[in-house]
Amino acid sequence: MQIGLLGYGTVGKAFHALSKEQPALTVKTLLTRRPRGTGCRETDSFADIVNDPNIDLVVELIGGIHPAYEYISAALRAKKHVVTANKALICAYYPELVQLAQENGVCLRCTAAAGGGIPWLSSLSRVARMDRITAVEGILNGTTNYILSEMTARNAAYGELLAEAQKLGYAEADPTDDVEGYDARRKLVLSANLAFSALLREQDIPCIGISRMTVADIAWARERGLVWKLIARAERRGDAVSAFVCPTLFPASTPESQTNGSANLVSLYAERIGKQSFSGAGAGGWPTASNVLADCLEIADSSRSFYSDRPAAPLPIDNHGEVKTWLFRSYGRYAVRQETAADAFEAYAAVSEIDSGALLAHLPWGML
Ligand SMILES: NC(=O)c1ccc[n+]([C@@H]2O[C@H](COP(=O)([O-])OP(=O)(O)OC[C@H]3O[C@@H](n4cnc5c(N)ncnc54)[C@H](OP(=O)(O)O)[C@@H]3O)[C@@H](O)[C@H]2O)c1
Repeated sequence: MQIGLLGYGTVGKAFHALSKEQPALTVKTLLTRRPRGTGCRETDSFADIVNDPNIDLVVELIGGIHPAYEYISAALRAKKHVVTANKALICAYYPELVQLAQENGVCLRCTAAAGGGIPWLSSLSRVARMDRITAVEGILNGTTNYILSEMTARNAAYGELLAEAQKLGYAEADPTDDVEGYDARRKLVLSANLAFSALLREQDIPCIGISRMTVADIAWARERGLVWKLIARAERRGDAVSAFVCPTLFPASTPESQTNGSANLVSLYAERIGKQSFSGAGAGGWPTASNVLADCLEIADSSRSFYSDRPAAPLPIDNHGEVKTWLFRSYGRYAVRQETAADAFEAYAAVSEIDSGALLAHLPWGML
């Protein structure tokens, strides 16, 4: 299979190296803005890739929405398979791109877009073919997990650890997507869409990140044997989905509490097989490129147009229904309340108007 590779950054470079070990795959042309000395044909014009009848597969690793959207759409229309690690793009244009792939009889895969190096989306689609998945949840963002783990281990302040994460390359110069939970929410949308054959919209899902977490919050949890994690969760509820992203407290002995640093831990719950969890490197050149490579090999071996051929339908987000346990912190005072997620997020929004540092957390074990 001949590949047109877009981008030669952290993941693109690692993917190119890995592809050389695979007889079934050849990177024929690289789209790059400057010479890279890769030995394959290098071009700064996407037309050289999309118009090349010998290129069967386009691997998009430039990131961002534009021009990645235009490139991927054009590649699918030209009946070329597409593999991408671009969660922002797939999440924003999921229904359109899946439809485009199906109409053109080509494959679109994005396993590295959620879970980095963990074969999470491909495992999810395998289970969805044989069982009914009822929920997906987990630690899906390595940057926030690194900051929370270090806050817990070292009693250090959020701002100090964010600066450290940026220095170590774990956090972007603009960390908003990570620390406000938007990146985890995109990965949740991709996961839930596959798990439930759904078409969710990221903006419908309430989301609280970790930027308001304080040393006092860490101490409060420690005194009670609890550990903070940023959890993204989606649960099928009839013809709707209950979903949210927010800081969550776990007993110190749980696998979630023991998932430290930039690692991810993500679980699915299905009616017959029960709970399955996957953990590992949620980012990094080699792990992420390995999942990109696995997608390419899968395409070389099979003819599925997307992970699932089941028609997906838009499903509303509905967080009414089940009463859960929540921790509210406002003006330094903590209060535990039992209410639906819809009521808790509404109350949090109201409190935040008068206390911009207020915090809401989920207590899934109903403890305290
Ligand atoms: N890094 C990870 O751990 C990780 C994990 C999971 C998913 N991802 C996803 O993987 C994708 C790539 O991430 P990355 O970390 O490899 O990014 P990166 O290191 O910033 O690399 C991006 C590359 O794309 C090139 N590029 C950008 N726009 C281009 C354009 N218009 N034409 C040609 N080349 C262009 C850049 O070239 P210049 O060098 O010229 O700027 C750079 O070489 C993103 O969608 C990201 O979300 C990354």
